[in-house]
Amino acid sequence: MNVYTYLGFRNKELVILEDEFKQVSTNLTITTDDGTYGESGYAINYLENDIEKLNIDGIFACGPLPMLKKVKELAEKSNIYTQISLEEKMGCGIGVCLGCAVKYKTETEDTFVRVCKEGPVFNAKDVEI
Ligand code: FES
Repeated sequence: MNVYTYLGFRNKELVILEDEFKQVSTNLTITTDDGTYGESGYAINYLENDIEKLNIDGIFACGPLPMLKKVKELAEKSNIYTQISLEEKMGCGIGVCLGCAVKYKTETEDTFVRVCKEGPVFNAKDVEI
């Protein structure tokens, strides 16, 4: 199994876990928004380029919501199984306040799930973000 990892950071000073990800990745792409380390720009753009070149079986992503939206969009366009770990503002963190609820699609209905209770990891195709 090949593991391609894409890590994005704002700048060189914020880069973490590089050695740890190198140990578990076939290929590691590090990007910085300002180009001070690794590749310049957003990690998602490098994933997008590689989707066209690699035979990807699955994508597993965490990070800011705009990036996860782009991952979901790419996955759906390419029909790649994808899990995303959502970050939501949480009022209680124990499933009571519904402050972290996101729209969730089942085969029979649209409903809501709590990121703090049913998540935070979801099949990207099931949640509306
Ligand atoms: S944070 Fe309150 S239900 Fe999730």
